[in-house]
Amino acid sequence: MSFKIQPAPVARPNRCQLFGPGSRTALFEKMAASAADVINLDLEDSVAPSDKDVARENIIAATHDVDWNSKALSVRINGLDTPYWYRDVVDLLERASDRLDLIMIPKVGCPEDLYAVDSLVTAIERAKGRKKPIGFEIIIETAAGAQNLDAIAQGSPRLQSMSFGVADYAASMGMQVTGIGGTQAGYDMLADGEPGSERALFPADPWHYPSVRMVAACRQYGILPVDGPFGDFSDPDAFRAQARRSAILGCVGKWAIHPKQIDVANDVFTPSAEIVARARAILAAMKQAEEAGQGAAVLDGKLIDIASARQAKVVVDQIELIDGAS
Ligand code: COA
Ligand code: MG
Repeated sequence: MSFKIQPAPVARPNRCQLFGPGSRTALFEKMAASAADVINLDLEDSVAPSDKDVARENIIAATHDVDWNSKALSVRINGLDTPYWYRDVVDLLERASDRLDLIMIPKVGCPEDLYAVDSLVTAIERAKGRKKPIGFEIIIETAAGAQNLDAIAQGSPRLQSMSFGVADYAASMGMQVTGIGGTQAGYDMLADGEPGSERALFPADPWHYPSVRMVAACRQYGILPVDGPFGDFSDPDAFRAQARRSAILGCVGKWAIHPKQIDVANDVFTPSAEIVARARAILAAMKQAEEAGQGAAVLDGKLIDIASARQAKVVVDQIELIDGAS
């Protein structure tokens, strides 16, 4: 480890973030009753421009009237390139109840985007005597956001999580795709062989590079990395495959844009009984090895060493956090 210790992120489960438009109040009670860890009421792209004002009022009322029980409650505001965002922040901070935990800022492109929102939030918190500081979530979903990840990760002490948003990212990058997440037709590698012969195609992951960059920036600065939306809510297998690959890359959770996706996200981002058992066995074997004055040992015919214990601790810490919250 470097002399600079990697900070720990906020200790709360974030396996599934369930989104719903602020204009569809009929969904609010259903969202509150769901099994998602985080609720994101949306003011941005699922709300038509003509509905922005009413959606904002709906959400403010829902922070007072709906029982969100132990969920983290977040509101996605409009982007800083719109005329709506300042009103979102002012009205939420002035009139939402203390139940509001987080504001999600979309399309963040540079650390100054966080600075701007932080300065406004801080002034209103002081003016109104708000006791509970609002945390930030952000979405990395533009070329600028992906390029400036390191600086953005240090943009505000309020920052708790980052999500990777595939659709806007694809648009910003000029990618020739229309699907929201998952493999994309044509993004394949062809196995070696003679031209014209039958050769296997291997579907590749077009989101891999920015996702891994985001996880690294998050981990360096103690922020939760989250995989964003998957549009085809009628394909649980593809959702699961993408979620699993994100969990393996270090993400702590994934968005749900339909209730059908919640249980799959919770399942994938809760370490399985098998991996937890393996992690606990590694920790026990390494404790024994340490007591015998050894740094390396053998478990089931495989090398384990002190780094294996660090890996195992990640899994055990995750399951303890999740079990402790439920
Ligand atoms: N949260 C909670 N419940 C939801 C829900 C959500 N996001 N979306 C749908 N439901 C409920 C419906 O009310 C319905 O409930 P019922 O069985 O009591 O009638 C049930 O789940 C089935 O819904 P369905 O008919 O399949 O969906 P729909 O056509 O009503 O809505 C979407 C589909 C995609 C428009 C809707 O799920 C949605 O708005 N998702 C969130 C979009 C969003 O916030 N995007 C921004 C982030 S990318
Ligand atoms: Mg977006």
